[in-house]
This record gives sequence, structure tokens and C-alpha cells, in this order.
Amino acid sequence: MSQERINLAPVRLGPISVPTPVVLSPMAGVTNWPFRVLCEEYGPDGLYVAEMVTARALVAGNPKAFRLCRFAPSERVRSLQLYGVDPAIAEQAARIVVDGGMADHIDLNFGCPVPKVTRRGGGSALPWKLDLFAELIRRIVAVCEPAGIPVTAKIRVGIDAEHATFLEAGRIAQEEGCAAVTLHARTTAEYYGGHSDWDRIGQLVQALDILVFGNGDIWCAEDAEDMVSQTGCAGVAVGRGCQGRPWLFRDIANAFAGSDERFEPTLGQVGQVMARHARLLVDFYDGDERMAVHDMRKHVAWYVKGFPVGGATRRAFMACETLADLDARIAELPQDEPYPKTVAAKPRGRVRYAKKVRLPSGWLDSRTTTSEERRVLFGDDPMDASY
Ligand SMILES: Cc1cc2nc3c(=O)[nH]c(=O)nc-3n(C[C@H](O)[C@H](O)[C@H](O)COP(=O)(O)O)c2cc1C
Repeated sequence: MSQERINLAPVRLGPISVPTPVVLSPMAGVTNWPFRVLCEEYGPDGLYVAEMVTARALVAGNPKAFRLCRFAPSERVRSLQLYGVDPAIAEQAARIVVDGGMADHIDLNFGCPVPKVTRRGGGSALPWKLDLFAELIRRIVAVCEPAGIPVTAKIRVGIDAEHATFLEAGRIAQEEGCAAVTLHARTTAEYYGGHSDWDRIGQLVQALDILVFGNGDIWCAEDAEDMVSQTGCAGVAVGRGCQGRPWLFRDIANAFAGSDERFEPTLGQVGQVMARHARLLVDFYDGDERMAVHDMRKHVAWYVKGFPVGGATRRAFMACETLADLDARIAELPQDEPYPKTVAAKPRGRVRYAKKVRLPSGWLDSRTTTSEERRVLFGDDPMDASY
């Protein structure tokens, strides 16, 4: 349990109020509207960000990209995350979002460590190039600001211990008009390994006037309290900790309101959440039950983590093809099994270090891009909806 009771104030991102300053950190393949709806039901006053959508795919009219931009009618704030390398394309994507009235908030992805992304200069590689980073934000803010849409940036500490970028990146984001910065306190090289360095979050809070959301290794409500008291951040962003545990947002809201109440569902209650999640996914996939049930596989593994669910049952879940299959497997679970408190609050999902950081050739030689470098980079930006 946390030593210190914290008293966290509501925050504002432009016209958007976030009464409980807790953010669902965007996760590709996870934070689509079905999952966000579940999270928001538990914590109605937070900010729930969609997974990254590539600017180029939006501009190309890729239907998968547009599917990632859908929101449920119940969502209080429609929060999209854009990924782009070419400022002109990112600006066009922002224009599509703004003119189409598609979102209330845009977050920009400068944190992705995936080799496919960083070797094209994107995600967490991008803030190294100060000119490109500033131009991207500037052009997107120029489109969003007149429409009253706040822009935020999500960054990492840097590329590796020798190439930290977060303080400069934070200052640039502030100067170029971002309403907030979220710092995932790891470098690209650290990927998802070890523990994030929360001191870096504290340093960024000290350096900036805009809001800083701290991110990395919040596995339970007490971690959220600890991060706030150790760093002074205005709010927290939660990624892996809520995988299979959308109720974590209620726990954090309770903690921030000074309550020790925690939601500890039995396996039967977790099964009900799974069944509902699967049905929402069927809607997300326009009625395609098979796609929804396949997508549920990873969620099921997270939902049952820590419960005494054996290999045969897990395999049976992985073999489900229809909602009826899934419901039958859920009904077979020992319903009264109590919540595995200690395991549930431990790391889950991705936890490894990068094998090697992939960057465009000569990337670290200079902090700015040459026109030749830009030509190669922008030509290499693929059309995929996400990564
Ligand atoms: C499966 C997965 C997908 C992710 N996708 C995105 C993404 O689309 N955009 C982004 O900014 N960060 C993405 N992240 C990073 C998370 O938002 C978060 O910054 C990171 O997991 C650290 O927070 P945590 O320790 O609470 O998980 C992803 C992380 C995971 C595990």
C-alpha cells in the first residue's frame, strides 16, 4: 500500500475536462472501442485513447484505418492517436480527422519502439530529428487548434541511454502547442524490459509548464499513487496493466479519490466481462464472429492470468471459433474462484528488451534531417493501417 495519500486534481486538455487524470495508453490491437468501452464503464472520468492509426493509411482511404477510428456512442471523449513521419501527410490526415469531425483529441505517437517503425525513422526514433519532430507537431496543431481539438504527444526517454531526447522533445512539444506530453519512461533500447525510470518523469515535470502524464509499469492502483507522489505528474497513463483488467481504472479512480476500495472479481465475474467483450468485438468486426473470437484469444489469456486455469482449458479457449464455443468454455470455468490479487498486480504482456535498435542509416550522425534523408524516409512510409 502506498505510503502517502495523494490528492490529484482534475485536468483539462483545451476544452476537454478529465476529472480523473488517468489515461488508457494506446495499444495497437488492444485499445479498440470495445475495450475502451469496458474501461470507461469502470472509470467514467478518464481519457481512453484509441490505438495508433497511420496517417498515410488514412490519407489513402484504407478502410482498416477508418475502422480503427470508430467510436462507440457512449464514449465521452473521442481520442485518436496518429502516427506519421512525413509532416505533409500527417497534416493531411489531421485535416481528414478535423473536417470529418472524427475526434475530440489527437495524440501523436513518438513512442513506438517496433523495429519496423524505428528503421523508417518513426515512433520513438523521430524526436532525435528536431526539425522533423517540431514540424510534425506544428503542422498538426495548426490544423487542430482552430477546431478546438487539443493535441498531445507521447514520447519515450530517448533512443538509448546515450541518446536521451525527452527533455528537448517535451520542450518542443510545449513550444509547438501541445496541451500535454505523456512520457513512457523507457528508451527504445529498453523496449518493454526492466522497470521504467520514473525519475525521468519527475525531471520532465520540472522542465515543462504543460501537463505531463507519467507512463510505465502501473500494474495496480498503488503504483499509480506512487508514480504521482514520486514524480509530481499531473496524471498517469496505463498500458499493459489493464490488459484483461479493464476494472483497473475503477481501482485507480478510487485510489485518486482517497478510497481503498478495489474491485476483485471472481472468475465467474471475469467470465461475464469476457462474454461482453467478445460481443462488443463482434460489433467492431461488423458481425464477423470468427474474427471477434480469434481477437479475443489474447484477451482471454490476460483475463484468466493468475487464476488456476489449466493448459487444457486454455487450449480449449484458443480453439474457439464462435461465440457459442466461447460461452460454453466460460460456463465451464470454476465460477467462485477468488481473484488472484498478487499475480494480477504483476507485470503482464510484453516484458522484453529490444534485441537491437533499428534506425535509418546514419540517423544518429545529426540532429536534423537533410532533404535527401527526408526524400528516402517519406518514400518508405507504408500504407498499413497500424503496426
Ligand atoms: C501490445 C502493445 C501495443 C502498443 N501500441 C501502442 C500504440 O499504438 N501507440 C503508443 O503510443 N504506444 C503503444 N504501446 C505502448 C503503451 O501505450 C505504453 O506506453 C507502454 O506499454 C508502457 O506502459 P505500461 O508499462 O503501462 O504498459 C503499446 C504497448 C503494447 C504492450
